[in-house]
Amino acid sequence: MCRAICEAAGLNEADGPLNVWDYEVLAEATLDEATLGYFAGGAADEHTLRDNRAAFDRWRLVPRVLVDVSSVQTETTVLGKEVAMPILVSPVAYQRMAHPEGELAVARASASAETIMCLSTFATASPAQVAEAAPEGRRWFQLYWHPDRGVTKGIIDQARDAGFEAVVLTLDLPVLGRRERDLRAGFTLKPEYRLELYASRPGNPSAVTPASAAQLVDPRLTWRDLDWLREAAGIPVIVKGILSPEDAALACNHGCAAVVVSNHGGRQLDRAIASLDALPGVVEAVDGRAEVLMDGGIRRGSEVAIALALGARAVLIGRPVIWALAARGADGVQHVLELLRDELALALALLGCPDPASVDRSRVTRP
Ligand SMILES: Cc1cc2nc3c(=O)[nH]c(=O)nc-3n(C[C@H](O)[C@H](O)[C@H](O)COP(=O)(O)O)c2cc1C
Repeated sequence: MCRAICEAAGLNEADGPLNVWDYEVLAEATLDEATLGYFAGGAADEHTLRDNRAAFDRWRLVPRVLVDVSSVQTETTVLGKEVAMPILVSPVAYQRMAHPEGELAVARASASAETIMCLSTFATASPAQVAEAAPEGRRWFQLYWHPDRGVTKGIIDQARDAGFEAVVLTLDLPVLGRRERDLRAGFTLKPEYRLELYASRPGNPSAVTPASAAQLVDPRLTWRDLDWLREAAGIPVIVKGILSPEDAALACNHGCAAVVVSNHGGRQLDRAIASLDALPGVVEAVDGRAEVLMDGGIRRGSEVAIALALGARAVLIGRPVIWALAARGADGVQHVLELLRDELALALALLGCPDPASVDRSRVTRP
C-alpha cells in the first residue's frame, strides 16, 4: 500500500517519509479531495491558517556553545506527570475519515511514543474504545459543551470512567467557523462513521455544518460555567482556544490547571492572531499560575524549541498526526511523533540545552 502511495506522491519509498512534510504529500495522495479539504483547510481566506506558520519565521534561535550535550533528553512533565517529549496530540474530529482505525490508531501510537492523546468530543470512537485500544496510554478528553447540561455531565463521566486524566474545554467554537473548502466540496461524514458519543441520539448528529454544530455546542457559556465544570469533572480542567492575556488571567482565576494558546488551527475566526504571536502575552498574564500549552502550525522540532523558549510547557500537533494516520495508520503516527521528538533532541543539542527546561527566553530573538 505504501509503495503505491509513495509512487503516486513522487516519493522514493526506500527513503521513506523523512519529515512531517513528506507525510503531508503522502496524505494528499491518499485522501479524496473533500476529506483532504476538511483536514487541511481553515476558515474563510485562511489568513490565520497561514499566519500560524508564518509566525515561526518571525523568530530565530540563539545557540550557546561549550555546553555538555552528551546526554540530551526530551522528557518533561505536563500537569505534574512525565511525558517522553513536550509534544502532545491535539484533539481532531472524525479521525476514521483519515484511516479506518482512526482514533484507536492514534491512541496506540501516542501510547507507544509515551505522550498524551487528546480525544475530541466529535470522535468516531468512544472514550471507552480508546481506553481499551491503549490502556497504558495517557489521555485527555476534549469537551464541546452540549446545550443540555445533563448530556454534558454524562459525557464527562464517560471520559473520567475511561481513565481520561483531564478535561480540555474548547472555547473558540461557540459557533462553527466558515470553512469554505467544506462548503464547496459538500464535506460530510461517511455513512459508516458516526460521532460515537452521540450514536444513540436521533438523527445521527454530525456537527459538520453550522446548523448541526449548533445542536451540539452551547453558545451561551460564560466564565461562571467553568466553576460548575470543575466540580462536575473532578479531574483537572484545561481551557483551549485562549489568545487574549485577559482571558488567560480569568482562566487562572477560575482554577484551570492549564491553558492552550490556540486558534483551532485557523479554522474559526479568520484574521485571529497566530498562536505563536499570542503565546508571550498569555505566558506573562498566567505568571506561573497554570501551565501554558500551545498549538498551531508546528511542523518541526526546532519550532517546538521556539515555543518552549517563549514560555510554553509543551505543544500539541494536529494536522501532522492526521497526515501520518492517513498515510500509514498507527505506525505512521508513531513515526511522526518520534521524528518530531528526534528533531527536538537535535535542536536542543545544537542550542546547547540539555533538556526542555533549559530553553529559556534568551534562546530566541526577532531577526
Ligand atoms: C480537521 C481538524 C479537526 C479538528 N477538530 C477539533 C476538535 O474536535 N476539537 C478541538 O478542540 N479542536 C479541533 N481541532 C483543532 C486542533 O485541536 C488544533 O488546535 C489545531 O489542529 C492545531 O493546529 P495544527 O493542525 O496546525 O497543528 C481540529 C483541527 C483540525 C485540523
